[in-house]
Amino acid sequence: MLERSKLADNALQALHDEDYDLPFNTQSLNHDGLIFMGGRPSESLNGEWTFCVDLLDTGLRQKWFSMLPEAPEDRTEPWDYDPYMGETVPVPSNWAMLKEKWYFFEGSAWYTRPLDMDNVDGEKRQFLRFGAAGYDCKIFLNGDFLGNHYGASTPFCVEVTGKLHKGRNWIMACVNNIRTKDRVPMHNTDWFNYGGLYREVCVFETPASLISDFFLYLVPDGTYSKICAEVSISGAQSGEARLSIPELSIDETISIREGGGRVTISAAPRLWSPDTPALYDVSLAFGEDRVSDRVGFRQIERIGTDIVLNGAPQFLRGISVHEDDAVLGKVTTEEDLRRRFEHARELGCNYLRLAHYPHHERAAEIADELGFLLWEEIPVYWAIDFANPATYRDAENQLKELIKRDRNRASVIIWSVGNENPDTDERLDFMKNLAETARHMDPTRLTSAACLVNHANNRIEDRLADYIDVIGLNEYYGWYEENFEDLAKIGENSNPDRPVVVSETGADGVIGPKGPAKGLFSEDYMADVYRKQISTLRQLSYVKGMSPWILYDFRVERRQNIFQNGYNHKGLIAADKKTKKKAFQILAEYYREIAALEESARKAS
Ligand code: GCU
Repeated sequence: MLERSKLADNALQALHDEDYDLPFNTQSLNHDGLIFMGGRPSESLNGEWTFCVDLLDTGLRQKWFSMLPEAPEDRTEPWDYDPYMGETVPVPSNWAMLKEKWYFFEGSAWYTRPLDMDNVDGEKRQFLRFGAAGYDCKIFLNGDFLGNHYGASTPFCVEVTGKLHKGRNWIMACVNNIRTKDRVPMHNTDWFNYGGLYREVCVFETPASLISDFFLYLVPDGTYSKICAEVSISGAQSGEARLSIPELSIDETISIREGGGRVTISAAPRLWSPDTPALYDVSLAFGEDRVSDRVGFRQIERIGTDIVLNGAPQFLRGISVHEDDAVLGKVTTEEDLRRRFEHARELGCNYLRLAHYPHHERAAEIADELGFLLWEEIPVYWAIDFANPATYRDAENQLKELIKRDRNRASVIIWSVGNENPDTDERLDFMKNLAETARHMDPTRLTSAACLVNHANNRIEDRLADYIDVIGLNEYYGWYEENFEDLAKIGENSNPDRPVVVSETGADGVIGPKGPAKGLFSEDYMADVYRKQISTLRQLSYVKGMSPWILYDFRVERRQNIFQNGYNHKGLIAADKKTKKKAFQILAEYYREIAALEESARKAS
């Protein structure tokens, strides 16, 4: 076969070249290339794509992406993969959820689809946008490599201007979800490693000069009287943008110099809050380009150990959530999202911790509309390769992509730079730099991380706390920590100078016949842990919120005892997203009590 293949040189060479992937690791698809999408028309590329798993990266070695369509009878060599025929999968999807044989597959997988263009306007620019791809996504168009993106939960754009032609074009994505020490997250996590193109894919066209970024916010100076708009333009250095917020009688020109501009405008908007989720229709124009958004204006700050929203101290009545579904995997639908918020409302929440990675952008949009506060997070989780500059670059890029995507969302109040990381000098440098990056990109929000407890002297103690605004406290007294009374000691021994949010606490509880009647993993034991946690935490004055772990049971490879069967059962609701456990009502009752106390305090004031 090798001697007569026109791929023979390549095929033979590919068998000996273990650096085959280096040319495809440019990470050139990153936050720099993100395009603001609010109100921008696009054509969906969701639907059936040809699909093939590729465990040994044969495709990169043999350059499957350069194969041009040929009828099988015309081929002069045996292809190991047929990009144009064969098995198809729906996009968005996670391959693990589609076929038993792909459940634990970790490697590369190829997605291919045609893109037919009636014509290509040479005066315009064309882009592809991927909502997310788990983890490393290499993009090819008509046989050319256009770049790759690292990170499994943030969007990226690929400019294809001048590369699309009239008629049939071929898009190929090689998605690799292999776990490695230097990725973010690294190879050991407590959630399922879903791979694939699992969020929406689209193609869109823009004028030659376009609005690439648009950040609109209430100036956080405590006067609630000024709005600031920051605009970035791609394709032009100067000109005038026009900002319009009709309900505020704003129709403002923004002067663009060196590709950007900002303006501060006097305004007295109705303030956004969970009780009053006021949103304003906003539009922005530059030349031929038009974008829009629905933006809420509010101020979030920390004052001492208080989290203060629009001047009023808050208690965050929350719950943690993963993106996980028994059927959908990590794919998010509107129905799945809205069910999540309905259950949170039923629980009495005004807040959710979107763990441990950026969730679908619709989550924050719906939270804006319904009135929920959000903690959003990048997956700097457990023992990241903190000493590795490439790992930092990956983490920082994911953080910047998240902030650029969601910083117009009033519901987002906290950017979290990680979770439960070892207390080393490298980790401190890595995470305080991330916190500084977040603050620099967005001075209007708080920073946090799930920090550490010094169990030796029972105190909240984490050097990172000095560099973030809110201390996240993951504690599992009653579950992983057997001496429950130590929780009260932590309370007595700790004296934080900033707010603490219990970012995780809880216990597994398996419902019905699959769970034990009593003891660990029983529903009653879980309920008892919640009772004891609440009775202790309510006494800690510096605790300004909590997001117990977790709303729903979720899939994870590393949980395999007879009660877990590949699931983490700390959900207040089972994986069916219907069956509530006893602990649900225990927490709901506590939140109702807090809300009632707040209401009576409001009336008294
Ligand atoms: C940790 C971790 C979670 C994990 C949870 C658990 O705190 O942050 O991701 O799922 O504990 O062990 O259930």
